Amino acid sequence: MIPFSMKNGTLCVEDIPLPEIAARYGTPCYVYSHAYLTERARRFTNALDGAGKGKALIAFAVKANPSQAILASFAAEGLGADVVSAGEIQRAVTAGIPPERIVFSGVGKTAEEMEYALKIGIGQFNIESVPEIEMLAEVAASLGKVAPVALRINPDVDAHTHAKIATGKADTKFGIAAEQALSAYEKVACYPSLKIQGIASHIGSQITDLAPFEAAAQRIHEIIVALEKAGHPIETADLGGGLGVRYKDDQPEPPSIEAYGEMIKRVTKGWNCRLIFEPGRSLIANAGLLLSKVIRVKESKTARFVILDAAMNDLVRPTLYDAYHEIKAVTPAVDYYHADIVGPVCETGDIFARNRHIPTVKADDLMALMSAGAYGATMASVYNSRPLVAEVMVSGDKSSLIRKRQSVEDLMRDEQKPEWL
Ligand code: LLP
Repeated sequence: MIPFSMKNGTLCVEDIPLPEIAARYGTPCYVYSHAYLTERARRFTNALDGAGKGKALIAFAVKANPSQAILASFAAEGLGADVVSAGEIQRAVTAGIPPERIVFSGVGKTAEEMEYALKIGIGQFNIESVPEIEMLAEVAASLGKVAPVALRINPDVDAHTHAKIATGKADTKFGIAAEQALSAYEKVACYPSLKIQGIASHIGSQITDLAPFEAAAQRIHEIIVALEKAGHPIETADLGGGLGVRYKDDQPEPPSIEAYGEMIKRVTKGWNCRLIFEPGRSLIANAGLLLSKVIRVKESKTARFVILDAAMNDLVRPTLYDAYHEIKAVTPAVDYYHADIVGPVCETGDIFARNRHIPTVKADDLMALMSAGAYGATMASVYNSRPLVAEVMVSGDKSSLIRKRQSVEDLMRDEQKPEWL
């Protein structure tokens, strides 16, 4: 299914022309295709069907997009959630994801977060260090509970992705070194308030080659075999997220969900445990765009700047990772020119694209920043006192506001002046 397509010279989301969305909800706004994100969830579920023992758990990485409407859409498809904070647990449960389908990752879980997760009954803690084992054991014991534990092992695999989003190399803060796995599991086994349930790994994000996933899975399997030999049966193997998506129209598609599924089935053949996956971007990135309006076009001595009403605070990926996002004119003109596409924020780095070849645009024209469904709205800030933008979900010819645009009053609501001022 193609979520965004040109119909009669206008870019549409499913059956709705984007100018209608802009007129109804204002700009900037995030727009998501419900049909597409549902299709991605189904494809992921089907591609992993038959892998591992029993039914694989597809736990959507909430950090990619924690919107209630999106989490509820995935809950309806039977997905679970991969979370990294008590806030994400609360969001997932509120959206209807059963606690037993939640896995809790992250290097800095606090005792309060552990307590919350234990009380709500989450399915698995992915523990990332020995001190964290000790803390969870203590918290679980104080509640009279037994915590289901997987250890996140750092397989020391190079995911060939952007350094800021690679997590599987030994020099990152993530996971427990493979060499320390056995002794860490032995430590878990000493605590009656902990139950060894599984093993976990996640090597990074936007990975466009299947080889690093295969290498990591093989490494995990070696550890499972060693653990079982040492008397620690492993029930679940969480192989993380990380499958990349296409950001550039003229680039080949990265491996499809189906190719990923085939590889996983081949590599995990004969594994005697249930598999868990934590996809984020691959389910939601290309289901969303950021719709923006041109404020004005400024010609300087050396460059042409198309100034949008969206900025780095709304979509930070280009500024933070030099990430490429396609930027489309919603009603493209026939002529093209080169321009820097920028936001109004007072930072030189507030640039979405440099010297991009685009159809000519003028003030009030609409532009769409594509592939913005993952790590878009969720990473937004209110820098320059720019309120968080609206978010809209479309299904066929229906659209619905799923997040109201903030007001400046909202921004100031929790602020106060000292009484002595
Ligand atoms: N599981 C764990 C433990 C993770 O840390 C992540 C992402 C995922 C799953 C989901 O990975 P995905 O399938 O989405 O690749 N803000 C960056 C991406 C940061 C990813 C952080 N961890 C970006 O905009 O590219």
